[in-house]
Amino acid sequence: MAIDVRSLSDTWRIGDVEIPGRVVLAPMAGVSVQAFRRQGRRHGAGLVCSEMVSACGLGHGNERTKDYLRIAADERPLAVQIFGSDPVQMAEAARMCVAAGADLVDINMGCPVRKVTKTGAGATLTEDGAERGARIVEAVANAVDVPVTVKMRRGVENGSRDFAVAGPRFEAAGAQALTLHPRSAKQMYTGTADHTLTAELVSLVSVPVIASGDIDSRERAHAVLETTGCAAVMIGRGAQGNPWLLQSLVEDRDVRPDNETVVAEHIRFVRETVRELGERRAVHFLRKFHAWYLRRGHFPRTLRQELSTLETTAEVEAALLAAAPGAVALVARMEAEIAALDQLGDDAELDLPISLYGGG
Ligand SMILES: Cc1cc2nc3c(=O)[nH]c(=O)nc-3n(C[C@H](O)[C@H](O)[C@H](O)COP(=O)(O)O)c2cc1C
Repeated sequence: MAIDVRSLSDTWRIGDVEIPGRVVLAPMAGVSVQAFRRQGRRHGAGLVCSEMVSACGLGHGNERTKDYLRIAADERPLAVQIFGSDPVQMAEAARMCVAAGADLVDINMGCPVRKVTKTGAGATLTEDGAERGARIVEAVANAVDVPVTVKMRRGVENGSRDFAVAGPRFEAAGAQALTLHPRSAKQMYTGTADHTLTAELVSLVSVPVIASGDIDSRERAHAVLETTGCAAVMIGRGAQGNPWLLQSLVEDRDVRPDNETVVAEHIRFVRETVRELGERRAVHFLRKFHAWYLRRGHFPRTLRQELSTLETTAEVEAALLAAAPGAVALVARMEAEIAALDQLGDDAELDLPISLYGGG
């Protein structure tokens, strides 16, 4: 059902969960750590999503896993995304997500990665009339009393129209919102997202549809809203190292951070990530983020290269502050907020592993 969205800061609902804004931060494996989700919320995302966690647990032969999901009350409303192929396991995983604090359980039916699809999970769940996918939705929706949502692609093969069959089936099976990334799984991230398909899905179901794919500016967000009638826009790659994109959408104005703001936010992200992953893992995890942040502001080209070689986050911070000395005062102000995270003391760890391979 088409929605006439007045403002991306509108409150809306998925089932009985109130979402304070129509900008949703995408689930991204290897990116959507707690620090990223918190940053998204601070910059106005109405809903944030975890990266996908495996319903199969550590025992699964094909699945290499890396870590457990940590979630806390200040991230809420939070969607935890699960993937798997077995309805019983998925139902049990969903119960665990809710016990750990998830407000919504999202089912991954878009992951194009072979390691995942060959187990019958991810994008293959929209195939063959979406029969297996619908059984999973039904099992999960029966298992939990929070809304269950599905994130999918147009289908597996190029040109596939499986979404048009799958969407109504998932709604009938109990899904209370659908996210469509209108590329095929075969496409991975090449080509463009065809949001005429999003408009089609909106016309086929009455639950809210969230549009995902290539929304990287205010202009694009408004064009997708107007041409599809979707209930919300999901931002993925556009928010990497650029939480100001979220803010610009929600506040409907250009937000161009200066060097000091970029460095202060980057340092905050570094510190929160160290708090979450520990120094050693954070150093490697953060390397891709350095390049992403330095696309904002105006920094010498050599800085990106320098950051990618540093072995400690203290050196990263020193290099960043040397490039924007004025950020020192901003960082000092943030310190208290970061320290306050420890006072919250409400972190829950979900006993389901995050996948090494992800996508959707
Ligand atoms: C690095 C990366 C990891 C991703 N991981 C997931 C995931 O775990 N689950 C999922 O449903 N989608 C995943 N996606 C897909 C995104 O959520 C989103 O649908 C897609 O990137 C298109 O949106 P964008 O153009 O705004 O990035 C991932 C995308 C990227 C780039």
